[in-house]
Order: sequence, then C-alpha cells, then structure tokens
Amino acid sequence: MILVVGATGLLGGEICRQLSAAGHPVRALVRPTSDESRVEALRVLGAELVTGDLKDPATLVAACAGAEVVITTASTTLSRQAGDTIASVDQDGQLQLIEAAKASGVSRFVYVSYSGNHTIGCPLTTAKRAVEQALRDSGLTYTILRPSYFMEVWLSPALGFDPANAQARIYGAGRAPISFISLKDVARFVVRSLTTPAARNAIIELGGPEALSPLDAVETFEQSTGRTFALEHVAEEALEQQYASAQDPLEQSFAALMLGYARGDVVDMSQTLVAFPLQLTSIREFAGARPARSLSLGTSRVTEVAPPTL
Ligand SMILES: NC(=O)c1ccc[n+]([C@@H]2O[C@H](COP(=O)([O-])OP(=O)(O)OC[C@H]3O[C@@H](n4cnc5c(N)ncnc54)[C@H](OP(=O)(O)O)[C@@H]3O)[C@@H](O)[C@H]2O)c1
Repeated sequence: MILVVGATGLLGGEICRQLSAAGHPVRALVRPTSDESRVEALRVLGAELVTGDLKDPATLVAACAGAEVVITTASTTLSRQAGDTIASVDQDGQLQLIEAAKASGVSRFVYVSYSGNHTIGCPLTTAKRAVEQALRDSGLTYTILRPSYFMEVWLSPALGFDPANAQARIYGAGRAPISFISLKDVARFVVRSLTTPAARNAIIELGGPEALSPLDAVETFEQSTGRTFALEHVAEEALEQQYASAQDPLEQSFAALMLGYARGDVVDMSQTLVAFPLQLTSIREFAGARPARSLSLGTSRVTEVAPPTL
C-alpha cells in the first residue's frame, strides 16, 4: 500500500493517477474540508480514502498503518484551512509524518521538496530543508525530490501567465533562465523513484528538458498561438522590497519564490536522465506548439505592475 499525503493537490492527484494506472494500491489522505470534486476523483481511481491532517499526529499514525511507502507533497502555500501555517504544516506536520512512518514500519518515504537553488532565506525554505534533514536522519529509506518551477503553476493564469488572453506577468526582467518542469513529469519521477536504485537515499534536483527565460517562454507561446502577448513586469526591486517588508511567513516565502524566479533556476538534468530515462515535456509541447511558422510578431506591450500577494 502506498500512502499519498497531498493527494487532493495538483501534484498529489497526478501521482495518485499514475500510481493507479501502474496498478499500485493507493491510499489517499483527505480532509473533511478537501475539495469534494478532488476527493471524488480519487474515489473513482479506486484509491482507499483515509481522513487525516498533518497537524494531528494520531491521524498520521492511523494513515500509515500497513503502508510500505509514504509519498508526501502537502503544502499550505496554495491550499490552506484555519490553523494551517508553514510552521504547523510544512514543517511540524511533515516532521510528524516522518515520525508516524517510522513508528508504523514504513519502508520507503518520498518527500517532494523544492529546488536547491532556492537560497533566499524564508520560512518555507527553512521548513523544506528541516524536513529533508530529519528524513535523512530518520533511518527510513528516502528519496527527496527538488523540482524547479512547475509550468502548470508559473506559466498559468493563477500567476498572471494567461495565453488565452495573450497576457503574461513576468517577475523581474524575465531574462534569467529557469528549468520549468511539468508537474506530470515530477509525478513520473516520484513513481519511478520507487523502483530506481539511484533514488534510494538520494536527493534529486529536477528540472525540465531545457532552461528558458520567461521571455523565451512567452515567445514560445506567441509562436504557438500566433498572438503577441501584452506583458506586465513586476520589477525585481519591488520584489526585494516586498520580501524585506513582509510581515507574514507566507507572504515572505512567496516573495522569495518570485525573487528566485527573477534570478533564475537552472537544473542540469544530464546525469539524472541516465538513471531515469524519461522524455521530459518541453515548454513548446506544453504550449501545444506546432513547429514555428513564419510569424511576424509585433513588439509586446509592456506595463510595470506591483508584486501580487497570496
Ligand atoms: N508550484 C511549484 O512551482 C512547485 C515547485 C517545486 C516544488 N513544489 C512543491 O510541490 C508540492 C505540491 O504542490 P501542489 O501544486 O500539488 O500543491 P497543492 O495543489 O496546493 O496541494 C497541496 C496539498 O496539501 C494538502 N494539505 C495542506 N494542508 C494540509 C494539512 N494540514 N494536512 C494534510 N494535507 C494538507 C492539501 O490538502 P487539502 O486539499 O485538504 O487542502 C493538498 O492536497 C508542494 O510541496 C510544493 O512546495 C511546487
């Protein structure tokens, strides 16, 4: 049995789909407050549903009972309920899950962290690295995956990148390359890690097949859609100011992630792809692009805007 914590999230849901498709028995941790359509999708997959909360250790021990593997993707960054904070969930909750897995005799623990290039101090990075360290010290066989920025999140309307309306928000100048990765590929690495010897007791940085700057990504979408995008720029100085003046751990962490995007996040995948021979999704494929036709692209309209808040 494989327990997935974060199963109602974007990545966790995709991991459950891929595990089920590969014939693995899946147990999905859900909460009474989880989105009902996402819970229903897990039910339709045939996942066993178990109710729990990372803030409630007793529920974690019950959820781990009889599981050989625990996979956790949970985070409060985008999906929060009363009492959910980076400290209570991303840090203490994940630490409690490691303890519950140990107590239940789980043999494998997979933790989705984020890129090692995130070095701008913030509560989320502190939490991620603390959980990584605790897992390494736990005696459990572990895999820590550190993906770069997800295409489905950072190249989506949720963060101002809106191909349907030919608009894109760019954090910083937009010239620093990022190894954007599709979350479907992250899920494939999670599933493959269970059977890949090189993933045992390993920390693996994950990126897409190429590092493209956000402005290159816009150009790829422009070629795909045949439309010229209007650009909103959030100046790097404005992000630095938001980071420095943030009162709230989540706000400071989000500002640090936007600054990290502005400064770039390149992951060399050459060695990892030897151990995991996967065909990774490119931004061109993600954009649904056909080979570039001869397009005459106009000059993008650029507007300067203030940083968003969560
Ligand atoms: N977005 C990116 O670009 C990016 C890049 C690298 C790494 N990551 C990492 O990828 C991971 C997955 O992201 P995602 O997009 O799947 O996130 P998501 O869609 O926001 O899902 C978050 C999940 O965490 C669960 N959760 C939140 N608080 C919980 C609690 N107290 N107890 C139990 N479960 C709780 C949520 O459950 P409910 O549905 O019940 O709220 C949901 O299932 C995160 O750890 C993130 O840091 C993201």
